[in-house]
Amino acid sequence: MKHTYHPLLPDVTRILARQPAPNFADGLTTATHLGKPDYDLALQQYNTYIEKLRGLNLEVTVLDADADFPDGHFVEDPVIVYGDMAFLCRSGANARRKEPQSLVSHLHGLRVIPLQDETAFIDGGDVLFCADRVLVGISERSNLAGATALHRALQTVKADIRLDCVSFSGVLHLKSGLTEIAPSVMLHDPALKTDYALDWAEVIELPSAEGYGADVMPVNDTIFISTGFPTVRQVAEKYYQNIIELNMSEFQKMDGALTCLSLRY
Ligand code: GLY
Repeated sequence: MKHTYHPLLPDVTRILARQPAPNFADGLTTATHLGKPDYDLALQQYNTYIEKLRGLNLEVTVLDADADFPDGHFVEDPVIVYGDMAFLCRSGANARRKEPQSLVSHLHGLRVIPLQDETAFIDGGDVLFCADRVLVGISERSNLAGATALHRALQTVKADIRLDCVSFSGVLHLKSGLTEIAPSVMLHDPALKTDYALDWAEVIELPSAEGYGADVMPVNDTIFISTGFPTVRQVAEKYYQNIIELNMSEFQKMDGALTCLSLRY
């Protein structure tokens, strides 16, 4: 199947995910104003997410929950997969530093490159693969040394890959507030503040009340969007025939969104 909208990325054939643990509400969050998440409802939402991915004929692996990692179901943060390469991150958040190692034995067939520079840190949630470049958010979770180490690792797959650093504030991860829904068409949550020039793209400013909807997840010719964001839905309909809309309320309470819950490669 052709990867229609994100040419820099190979087609997705495999999904790696991990079930949320019963203590997932002990994870890190800045969204305490949304209240405490409900585990049963979170599991329901999670199972629907996985079921929809399985429906796309992908090889889907779901690891058992691990109570040592209350944020461990956000598997997109500890590892970045590109081509045959899996880059092991080192989060700016101490509490998440052991997650990459816990996934290594599940990265079958991938060349694992650990981040070795001890001054470097990076979370996969800050890494956005666009049609012609990779954006790395410089944040509390990711720094320039982390971006540089990732760039070197990506170059082992594609020597001329372009990587731009995007200093931002206002949201946790870059992808919390900025994703690319179609080549050079970006969805932007106005809560994310940056001086980075997005003049190479068409930027769709979401209304503030729809900011959370900015995290959309393209999987080959399908787009996953969160329920309750009409502007996002309208844009998705312009570019995709296959739209999967999911309620993510319990993960939103833990600063998580669609992309955080899986590794897609
Ligand atoms: N709860 C997601 C994170 O803070 O990393």
